[in-house]
Amino acid sequence: MSRTMVAGNWKMNTTPREGHELVRQVIDRVGTPATKVVFGVPAIQLMAVQALVKDPSGYAVAAQNMHEEQSGAFTGETSAAMLADAGIEYVILGHSERREYAGEDDELINRKIVAAIAAGLKPIYCCGEKLDIREAGNQEVVVGKQIEQALGSLSPTQIESVVIAYEPVWAIGTGVTASKEQAQQMHNYIRRMISNQFGADVAEHMTILYGGSVKPGNAAELFAQPDVDGGLVGGASLDAESFAAIVQAV
Ligand code: G3H
Repeated sequence: MSRTMVAGNWKMNTTPREGHELVRQVIDRVGTPATKVVFGVPAIQLMAVQALVKDPSGYAVAAQNMHEEQSGAFTGETSAAMLADAGIEYVILGHSERREYAGEDDELINRKIVAAIAAGLKPIYCCGEKLDIREAGNQEVVVGKQIEQALGSLSPTQIESVVIAYEPVWAIGTGVTASKEQAQQMHNYIRRMISNQFGADVAEHMTILYGGSVKPGNAAELFAQPDVDGGLVGGASLDAESFAAIVQAV
């Protein structure tokens, strides 16, 4: 099975009406995609977008967060079981914005990942270093630690459900993209880490996405790198023409 995927992360953008139109326009442009295409939409739009992407095949929906507990008195939260029962396939976990604004750390993210997999969801686990870490040349140490803490406890069967998104924080929403060499080097490092811990076969099948200012103009060269399997796209996923072009760049 192909490792490739392009996932859009709309973040807190689009009303339900705008979201409906955006998905419709992407599907109109792309038709049946040559890669898996995922719409990471605001919680209020999950079920409506899920209904929209049923046909043609190749599309799926991701939640942007979920709670680590199964159920209970957690006002405002959404559980993994709720997402799974609504037909949602993916959940984005560990995004740098949740680390920054909601104080999430890899210990909590690990609990969310375990809960997601137990419910049958596929986590898109985000990791990546901040600018000062990159400038000090410590990106492998920091990203390695994130992955170890968030994914280290998983069994070989559990890890097969996980997609990793490498998103250098300094490239998110800044217009500054990692060069294709920087992206390939980190993706290769991540794949080797997964191979060492879970075996070469798991690593070979793992989808590793790049995120951080992916645009139609840079997508093809990033996705051409041997260990870059596609992208997690923020800003450019909000424009149907741009997102369709990025999907077609895989
Ligand atoms: O989840 C997506 C990333 O945060 C990338 O966002 O494409 O706007 O830089 P961006």
